[in-house]
Amino acid sequence: MHLSMLPRYPLLAGPTPLQRATNLEASLGSRSPRIYIKRDDLTGLAFGGNKARKLEYLVADALARRATVLVTEGAVQSNHARLTAAAAARAGLECLLILDARNGEAVEGNLLLDHLVGAEVRIVRDQLTRKKVMATIDDELRADGQHPYVIPTGGSTPLGAAGYVAFVLELINQLQEVGESPRRLYLASSSMGTQAGIEVGVRAFSASFLVQGIAVSGTTYELARQTSELAEATATLLHTRQRFHFGEILVEDGFIGPGYGKATPEGLDAIRLLARTEAIFLDPAYSAKAMAGLLHHIQTGELRPNDSVVFLHTGGGPSVFAWGERLLAEPQSAIALEPADTRVPVTR
Ligand SMILES: Cc1ncc(COP(=O)(O)O)c(C=O)c1O
Repeated sequence: MHLSMLPRYPLLAGPTPLQRATNLEASLGSRSPRIYIKRDDLTGLAFGGNKARKLEYLVADALARRATVLVTEGAVQSNHARLTAAAAARAGLECLLILDARNGEAVEGNLLLDHLVGAEVRIVRDQLTRKKVMATIDDELRADGQHPYVIPTGGSTPLGAAGYVAFVLELINQLQEVGESPRRLYLASSSMGTQAGIEVGVRAFSASFLVQGIAVSGTTYELARQTSELAEATATLLHTRQRFHFGEILVEDGFIGPGYGKATPEGLDAIRLLARTEAIFLDPAYSAKAMAGLLHHIQTGELRPNDSVVFLHTGGGPSVFAWGERLLAEPQSAIALEPADTRVPVTR
């Protein structure tokens, strides 16, 4: 494994904390497994999030290629776009973001931060238009005398995914310190770079847990295929031969709700539950749906009380500020596993 030979531009503040969520466990009652939260919402760059790990490798590559401007794409509330803009600011590069307004374009949450860190933002109508602009952006900027480094959706290239191969070593060390070997690691999956990198790391470092992706768009079939291909390419980049069959990749598409970037009642409940029990903030588009998946698996008995499980908090906090009133509305679904009187009261 040639991980340490890849150039890395430091963006992380250090290893992110691994915290046991005892208040959450208590609120779920006696059927709860031991739940650990790996706090990648605290990666240390511009309100944190998973993309910082990918960007350490992508920015190093951009600098090695003497790029002057990082270019990437996403929806208006894209966490990836915000972190790319922040990484560019830290590395002394310019940044151009092509963002689609399919879920609105109010200057709040991530979009506000994009502007504050000095990114140039081009907002287009929809995803299709965004793809068209991205197809020609490299030529356009080069014709203008610039040296662009174009990062595809979510930074999910083999180089980006390498950031999550390294993550597995960090997590294994922390699990050893607390003497746990969890059954599964839960995470929100979208462009699949995070999950693909973790799959490679799990094999390379013989981790004991299964990786359980919870999709925020797409279908299990297409996402599992995409992950297995990306994982193989990531392993190849690191000079290791690994073969993945898409049937081995666990990614569940049952928690997406009405679509990408749209909240679900279970997700909004999960946001309120984590905020009230652990003072940890999830976001409606990603981490809340992953937590809804984990809670559902606890409810259905797929995870048992003597198991331990890790929830990878991939970040997304700033988009909470774009949700205002909707987050304060009454809960829609029942997360409780036991009758209310047997649960530990949650103090507000
Ligand atoms: C908060 C958050 N969680 C999870 C993901 C999914 O990561 P990936 O695109 O690597 O699957 C993203 C991607 O943008 C994200 O912003």
